[in-house]
Amino acid sequence: MSLLIDRIGELFTADPQLGVLRDAAVVAEGDTIAWIGPSAEAPEADERFDARGRAAVPGFVDSHTHLVFAGDRSAEFSARMSGEPYTGGGIRTTVAATRSATDAELQFAAAAHLGEMVRQGTTTVEIKSGYGLTVADEARLLRIARQCTAETTFLGAHIVPDGADPDEYTALVCGPMLEACAPYAKWIDVFCERGSFDGDQARAVLTAGAKAGLGLRVHANQLTAGPGVRLAVELGAASVDHCTHLTDADVDALANGRTVATLLPGAEFSTRSPYPDARRLLDAGVTVALATDCNPGSSYTSSMAFCIALAVREMGMTPAEALIAATAGSAAALRRSDIGRVAIGARADLVVLEAPSYVHLAYRPGTPLVRAVVHGGNPLQLKRSN
Ligand code: NIG
Ligand code: FE
Repeated sequence: MSLLIDRIGELFTADPQLGVLRDAAVVAEGDTIAWIGPSAEAPEADERFDARGRAAVPGFVDSHTHLVFAGDRSAEFSARMSGEPYTGGGIRTTVAATRSATDAELQFAAAAHLGEMVRQGTTTVEIKSGYGLTVADEARLLRIARQCTAETTFLGAHIVPDGADPDEYTALVCGPMLEACAPYAKWIDVFCERGSFDGDQARAVLTAGAKAGLGLRVHANQLTAGPGVRLAVELGAASVDHCTHLTDADVDALANGRTVATLLPGAEFSTRSPYPDARRLLDAGVTVALATDCNPGSSYTSSMAFCIALAVREMGMTPAEALIAATAGSAAALRRSDIGRVAIGARADLVVLEAPSYVHLAYRPGTPLVRAVVHGGNPLQLKRSN
């Protein structure tokens, strides 16, 4: 099956060679992009979508979510908006709700959130465990996550459960829990933060995960400037996420390493905290990604466009930098080059916007701009009679 999308007024490829093309067309053969060029020269295909001058961008890559959960923390959000601080302690509320949910309830909720995401243009999602915190519950969450995506992350080291000794719990995560979870996980993650896991515990978790064949990701420097960012770079993590409180040494380490800095502005929005300084990272030459951090506590948004708008308005990014971070940058955070850009040989993931330019993603915040989504060559929302 081939699909032609033609008369694209502005094609933002997120590919450094191709840049932004005018009056362009794209042909997908099966799930792969086979042709890109001027619309007037486009070849025939089995199916055609006429973009009628609209803009098209790569499908968004959401490289950081906590989608397998139950329960609601709107009361905690309300309390924060009345001045309560965010400490991460509310994670335990979601752990209790998630443990008592059935597999079917968790699957149904995850599928609903995924549907919400794809309708907003997200074509790749990473999903973490972390609301189980027992061997059986973490493995269960990862089995469910694995039904949704190949990008699954074991986050047994999210927080120390109530009543557990931190070092004993870390040993459980590094031993039996990792053994039970590794078959369903591609990545391992740890929340390296005051009140969660310190630098030594985080190092133990990441080292054990690497030994088990998992790639490394880290939650770090969200609430305080701790050792997490430098640890992530030292251990060659694919991504270090949050990066809200950074020292000059952290920025230097990121600039000299291979680890992507993933910024999650939904978390600062929802916890009413200062935003990370994306400009400082970009100016230092760091690869920056954007993701939603979708979870019921610190960032209950499924919208990459919302994160792009926040990054532009609050974090010193240009609209082009923010869109690259939400596509090619997030792909780099997952060490993927087959997604996050419109290029020949890449997966055919595209979003056609109800707008003449990608800039509208930030210029028209909160507006449903997604007209159509092509996911692996499959037209998901193409309206034939436009
Ligand atoms: O990425 N920081 C740690 N974990 C999540 C928050 C989870 C929660 O509050 O439930 C995050 O923000
Ligand atoms: Fe997170």
